[in-house]
Order: sequence, then structure tokens, then C-alpha cells
Amino acid sequence: MTAAAPLEVQSLTKHFPIGSAVRRAHVHAVDDVTFELRPGTITALVGESGSGKSTVARLLAHLDEPSSGAVLFEGSDVSHVRRRRDVLRYRSQVQIIFQDPFGSLNPVKTVRHHVERPLRIHRVVPSNQVEQRVHELLRTVGLVPPEDVAAKYPHELSGGQRQRVSIARALAVEPKVILADEPISMLDVSIRIGILNLMARLKEEHGIAFLYVTHDLASARYVADDILVMYAGQIVERGPIEDVLSEPLHPYTRLLLDAVPDPATKTDAQEIDLRKGDTSAAVDPSEGCRFRARCPLAIEICSQTTPQLVEARPRHAARCHVTAPAS
Ligand SMILES: Nc1ncnc2c1ncn2[C@@H]1O[C@H](COP(=O)(O)OP(=O)(O)OP(=O)(O)O)[C@@H](O)[C@H]1O
Ligand code: SF4
Ligand SMILES: [Mg+2]
Repeated sequence: MTAAAPLEVQSLTKHFPIGSAVRRAHVHAVDDVTFELRPGTITALVGESGSGKSTVARLLAHLDEPSSGAVLFEGSDVSHVRRRRDVLRYRSQVQIIFQDPFGSLNPVKTVRHHVERPLRIHRVVPSNQVEQRVHELLRTVGLVPPEDVAAKYPHELSGGQRQRVSIARALAVEPKVILADEPISMLDVSIRIGILNLMARLKEEHGIAFLYVTHDLASARYVADDILVMYAGQIVERGPIEDVLSEPLHPYTRLLLDAVPDPATKTDAQEIDLRKGDTSAAVDPSEGCRFRARCPLAIEICSQTTPQLVEARPRHAARCHVTAPAS
């Protein structure tokens, strides 16, 4: 039996108004998104720029309020929680790590300060044990010797070490969920793997449920158990990562896989760069499939009826009239 998911997302939706009062439009940044994060697993959230990945992470971190839908933490809807005490309690359980570890650390404060602060705010341990806990946390994320690292300032660390400090700070409050929004994309390629391995170790040893937001399919395949593929605000495919990447159902996922350069054939025909994106399909979308303008398999119904996410294989669902038709 699998343990209950600490975080469940139900029909989560976020629309942003854009344009002037005269020509008002809405970006459907996140539209009817449903998934759960299970303990001790990493769920990758992939998609091109502007597809809505960070908006999902921000909604889950309670940094934005949804237009509709629910975020259930251990069974209770927390999406509209307002009381400071309740928000703090939720945030201690659901931590977020950002892309830029330098930007999220205070340059005039030491590592000790950053890791100590959440311990004190959330009263995780008695004051006389704070220092010992800071050292334990630094050791957990591979920052040794902890006594030396604790005294350093962010500028004295490498990018990878700074990201490890962000992770130690997140771990301080013993969270059940960590939302990692592109945690390695600003790091040197050589140190990215160390952070991915750290995430893998933390999910195993601490049972943490991770949401790993990324542009990079290869790193998702390396570290994740499940994958969610987003396109123009919608989940277009989801399932166990090996199933999805070895037998993708959605034409967009297939396109993403075709775009990954194959070192064996040395093909570098990068048809899509996930760092760029076309968000127009999410602006006041009409009925029909949002991917139809780019889809090689499109048929008439694709411009008339919005496809639903259909579980075409066990735990493996896609939103496509052709490859995952509703029965
Ligand atoms: N505060 C906001 N106001 C208006 N539009 C917004 C706001 N935040 C996000 N958006 C829009 O919502 C859409 C999704 O943005 P989001 O940042 O979630 O995408 P993303 O998948 O994280 O992209 P990237 O890969 O570039 O980080 C985009 O069209 C973006 O312009
Ligand atoms: S529903 Fe139609 S347009 Fe959309 S992905 Fe499937 S085949 Fe392509
Ligand atoms: Mg983003």
C-alpha cells in the first residue's frame, strides 16, 4: 500500500488579466490541473517557457491564490488559508526552492543565520540545540566541515554550495513537500548532478515528496519517478516517467523527446528550445486542443472539442483525441 499523498491538487486554475481596460484578455496560466505528490517520490513538471510551471509551484507554495480549484494538504483545503499562523504552519510543511540560490540568500548574513532562522521561527528545536541542528543540516546537504561553512557568507560559496544552503534551510523545518523550481538551471553543468543526487537521497531518507520543475528532460529522467508534461497551462500527459518517456502518448511529449539531442547519432536538430515558448495558445483559449496549430496528428475534432485527460494505460494519461481517445 502506498502512503497517503501529503499534497493533492484538484482542478487548480489561475488566470491572469493582461492588456488594457479596453482590450482585456486573460492568460490561462494554469487550467484545471490535477495531480498529487506522493511521499518519497520526485515528480517532474516539464514544459516550455510560459507553460505555467512556476505558477503551479507558486500556487502550491501559497505565494499566489488560485482563481479556482483546491490544494489539499493532508486532506484539508489550504488554498484560501489567510491567518498568518496557518500560513506559516503550511509553509513549514511545504517549502519552495528557487532557481537563483544567490538571489534567495541575504548577502550580508552568514550561512549559519540562514539555516538557524527557520529553526527559531518555527521553534523546531530548543534554543540550546540550534547550533548542533544547524551543523547536522549542513552535513546532510554535504556542506562540510559544517563549523567552517556556517561562518561563511553567500559570496564565499560556489553556486552549487549556495543551492545546498537553500536546501538545508528548506529542510530545517522538516517539510513533507519540497517544490524545487528549476533548482539546477543556473548551476554549472558539472555540479548539477550533485544537487539531483541530493534530492534523490532526501526523498529516500526523509520520505519527502518533491515537485521538480525543469526544462530539462534528461535530468527529469535521471531523478524523477513521475512526470507531468504541461502545455499552455494544461497537463497534457502524466504518468510514471519511464512509461511516459519510453512510450509517450501525446504528440507534444513526442516532439519534446525528438528535440533531445542524441549523442549516439550526434544529431543536434533541436526543433524546439524549451527555454523559448509560445504562450499565445493560453490567452483566452477557444474550445479545442491548445496544441492543434503545432500538431502533426491534428484532425477536425481537435479544433472543435477540448480533449480531456484520459487514462489510456495504467496510471498513464494524456489529453489527445487521437492517441488517448475518450471511450
Ligand atoms: N503575475 C503575472 N501576471 C500576468 N501574467 C503572468 C503572471 N505570472 C505569470 N504570468 C503568465 O502566465 C504564464 C505562465 O507563466 P509561468 O511563469 O508559470 O511559466 P513557466 O512555465 O514557469 O515559464 P519559464 O519556463 O519561463 O519559467 C505566462 O504566460 C506568463 O506570462
Ligand atoms: S487532440 Fe488533436 S491537436 Fe491535440 S494533440 Fe491530439 S491530435 Fe494533436
Ligand atoms: Mg518558471
